[in-house]
Amino acid sequence: PFVRFEELRRHRPVFYVEALDAWLLLRHDHVKQVLQDPRTFSSDDPRWHTEEFETAPTMITSDDPTHRRLRALAQPAFTPRRIAKLATAVEELCESILDEVEARGDRFDLVEAFSGPFPAIVIAELLGVPREDYPRFRRIAAQAVLATRPEPERSVGMRAGQELNAYYGAFLRERRESGELGDDLTSDFIRAQRDGAECSDGELEAMGSLFLIAGHETTTNLINNAVRCLDDAPKLRAKVVADPDCARDLVTEVLRYRGPVLGNFRFTTRTVEIGETVLPAGSRVLPMLMAANHDPNEYEAPGEFQLERRAKGHLGFGRGIHRCLGEPLAKLEAEIAIPALYRRFPELRVDTERDILPVEVPVIHGCRELHVRV
Ligand code: HEM
Repeated sequence: PFVRFEELRRHRPVFYVEALDAWLLLRHDHVKQVLQDPRTFSSDDPRWHTEEFETAPTMITSDDPTHRRLRALAQPAFTPRRIAKLATAVEELCESILDEVEARGDRFDLVEAFSGPFPAIVIAELLGVPREDYPRFRRIAAQAVLATRPEPERSVGMRAGQELNAYYGAFLRERRESGELGDDLTSDFIRAQRDGAECSDGELEAMGSLFLIAGHETTTNLINNAVRCLDDAPKLRAKVVADPDCARDLVTEVLRYRGPVLGNFRFTTRTVEIGETVLPAGSRVLPMLMAANHDPNEYEAPGEFQLERRAKGHLGFGRGIHRCLGEPLAKLEAEIAIPALYRRFPELRVDTERDILPVEVPVIHGCRELHVRV
């Protein structure tokens, strides 16, 4: 994909794609312009509001003040300090999944065996939903992201989104009625509501459902993409295993070079110029984070994967008011999972006899299946 971005960025940096009814943005400065101006580039896309699929707003699909109110409800659980406390539990979980992976033999699908379940169970535990439910919400969440595709998949995705809201909503109500609150995000939501926080049941349902999607599809693919980046680099693999600080640099460079979130749609609230292109109010844009992260105006030799780059200002987690809330958790998970995986399987390689099945939605760069040999 990098080569195609390169050509387009040079010749058509603001590029209309009819199937998506959206303008793709490929330059770092254009992508930043959009993410830093949420008044002009709204996250509240009218296509999320159809009579058939009307649901409560979430922070990622709303603008301030609704966005600020919803984000504030979950923010305290995602500070780097709170997340750092999860490290031991996350390490133990990672090792216990790897014990099971070891029993699978010489070849397996990494997504099914490890990179899928690991972050899904972490987010389940964080929300307090039963961890054994993860195959169910993983399946629904994978369908829900189809909402970013054109019809007919869009309706399939919107329906799956409603199914996920219903799943989490039932859990939330059961929890509230039982009165058994604990040290998890769902209990935090119930307490906040009791203490008078302004949020409806529908909003909490949609928030839980957002976490079930955003909390694992992304991290799963950060792990997958790291494996693809490391596949041809034995020295780098050894280094990552030996030196935990190096895992941090590795994750930063994977997020720049091959980040799992390609971008997210915005909707213009007024006529606006991006570079030399004038977009009328009501246009949809898709700032392409990965393309921006490969912009030669921003990074020297952007097509080279360099561990020591420590890219400042990469846009893998977005920018501005919608910048990823889960960043500390995603980093913790990836910095634990990637070295642990190679410590366990030093010879792990992508199985070239099997196809890599990509996730086919415009907002994610990753794979549904990634077969490996160990
Ligand atoms: C938003 C990337 C993991 C929760 C975002 C955005 C990006 C992103 C680019 C901005 C979207 C926009 O501007 O519209 C990633 C990447 C991840 C990751 C690359 C993993 C490698 C997570 C995790 C969680 C999470 C683990 C939760 C546990 C969220 C939420 C938002 C968000 C709630 C919306 C924030 C807002 O609208 O204010 N993420 N994410 N993400 N992410 Fe992540």
